Amino acid sequence: MSNIDIEKYFKPDLNQARKRSKKAIEELQFNLSDAHYKIGVDKTYMIDTYGCQGNEADSETMAGILELMGFTKALSEDNADVIILNTCAIRENAENRIWGELGRLKAYKRQNPNLILGLAGCMAQEENVVERVMKKYQHVDIIFGTHNIYKLPEYIETAMFAKERVIEVYSQEGDIIENLPKVRTHKFKAWVNIMFGCDEFCTYCIVPYTRGKERSRSKEEIILEVNELVHQGYKEVTLLGQNVNAYGKDFKDKNYTFGDLLRDLDQTGIERIRFTTSHPHDLDRKTMEAMRDSKHVMPFFHLPVQSGSNPVLKKMNRHYTKESYLKVLNELKSTVPGIAVTTDIIVGFPTETEADFLETLDLVEKAEFEGAFTFVFSKREGTPAASFEDDTPEEIKKQRLYILNERVNQGYLKGNERFVGKIVKVLVDGVSKYDDEVLAGYTEHNKLVNFKGEPSLIGQIVNVRVTLAKTWFLMGELS
Ligand code: SAH
Ligand code: SF4
Ligand code: F3S
Repeated sequence: MSNIDIEKYFKPDLNQARKRSKKAIEELQFNLSDAHYKIGVDKTYMIDTYGCQGNEADSETMAGILELMGFTKALSEDNADVIILNTCAIRENAENRIWGELGRLKAYKRQNPNLILGLAGCMAQEENVVERVMKKYQHVDIIFGTHNIYKLPEYIETAMFAKERVIEVYSQEGDIIENLPKVRTHKFKAWVNIMFGCDEFCTYCIVPYTRGKERSRSKEEIILEVNELVHQGYKEVTLLGQNVNAYGKDFKDKNYTFGDLLRDLDQTGIERIRFTTSHPHDLDRKTMEAMRDSKHVMPFFHLPVQSGSNPVLKKMNRHYTKESYLKVLNELKSTVPGIAVTTDIIVGFPTETEADFLETLDLVEKAEFEGAFTFVFSKREGTPAASFEDDTPEEIKKQRLYILNERVNQGYLKGNERFVGKIVKVLVDGVSKYDDEVLAGYTEHNKLVNFKGEPSLIGQIVNVRVTLAKTWFLMGELS
C-alpha cells in the first residue's frame, strides 16, 4: 500500500463541510444486510472513545452494529480483532492523544496482521488528519467519519476479506438514520440524540465542519426511544445535541421546538431528563416554562458563555453580549428557582486583553456559576479564528486559566454548600472510586454525593441527607 492513489478515496474537504445545503433531510431506516450477519462470529472488538457525549453515543451505535454482526466485546486490546478509535477534534491536545495512540497501536498490528484498525469520529472529518494518516500511519485500515457510521459493516467486510484499505469520509451530512442498534454503556442512564450538527459557526470551533448542518430527529422517534428506555428500566435520559435549544427550528412543516419536546418527554414516565448543550442565544421562554412546569426535567442547566467581554464575544460570533447573557440567565433563574447553572469558558482567545479577561472574571462573579469547564484557546485549522492575530504569550494564557479556575472553584463550593442539612434525591451510580463501602451518585441539581450504603441501591433513586460540602462533592447519609 505504499503508492496510495489518494484520489480514489472519499476524503474530507473542509470547504465543502462549511456549506449548508437546502436539501430536505430524509429519515432512513438502518438494516443489516444478510451478507453482514455473522461476519464477526468468534471475533472481538474494542472501541476507544475520546470525545463529547455525542461521540460516546456514536460509540454505542458502533458497538451495536458490531454486535449485530456477531462480534463480542474484547476484554483487552491484546485479543481484539477490530479496534476503532472514535476521535475528537475540539482542541489540539485531544488530537495529540490520538496520534500517540495510533503510534502505539502499530505494535499490535505487527503482532496480529489480521487486526483491523479503524479511525472514526470528528478527526476523520479533517483533511489534514486524513492526509497524515494516509502517509504516515498506513497500519490504519479504515477511516470513516461522523456521517456514515451506518456503513461500518461494509467497511469491515472490505478490510477483512478484500484486504483493502477503506477511506470514506463525507464532508456533508446525509440523512437521519433511524433504527440503529446500540449497546448502551450504562444500565439506567442513557444518551438520546435529539439533533445532529451545528449551524452556529462560533469562529474558534471545528464542530460545524465535523458534524454538518443542524438537523433534528422527529419527535416521534425520540419519544419512541425514551418510551423504550422507560420500559427497559432506565431512570435518566440526557438529550444530546450541539445546540439543543435550536431543536426543531429546521422543521419546515411544523412548529415544534425544544420546549414542546421537554413537555412531551415529561409525560413518558422517565424519572429524570437532562440535556446538553445549550446556546444562550437560542434559549427561549418556552424552554424555561417547560422546565418550570415539568416534573422530570432536572433543575440543572449547562449554558456555555465562553467569555465575558463583548468585543471577544463578537469575534467569537456568539450573537449575545455579557449583558444579554446575564439577562437570559436571570430570567432562567427566576423561572426555575434554585436551578444550578454551569458553563464553558475559553481564555486566551486571539486579541483577548487583560481588560477582556477581567470582564470574564466579573461575569463569573455575577452569574454565580456552580461549575465550569475552562479551556485555553486552541487553534483549529480551517476555522476563522485560526487566522486571527494572536499576540498573547502562552504563559499569560495559562496564568489567566489558573486565576479563572480559582474563581470557578469557589463557585463549585458555594453551589455545594447550599445543600448542607438538606435532603436530596440521589440516583445511585455505583460504588465510590475511593472506598468500596461508599456509594456515589448525582442529585437532581447534578451534584455528586458520597454516602454509605449497600450496592443493591445502585440504579435506584434514594433520599440522602447532606452532611458536608467539599469543592467537588457532597458527603451525606441515607435518610
Ligand atoms: N456545542 C457545545 C459544545 C462545544 S465543544 C457548545 O456550544 O457549548 C465544548 C466546549 O469546548 C465549548 O463550549 C468551548 O468552550 C470549547 N471549545 C470549542 N472549541 C475550542 C477551541 N478551539 N479552543 C478551546 N476551547 C474550545
Ligand atoms: Fe461549536 Fe459554537 Fe456549535 Fe458549540 S455552538 S458546537 S461552540 S460552533
Ligand atoms: Fe469532539 Fe466532535 Fe464532540 S470535535 S467535542 S467529538 S462533536
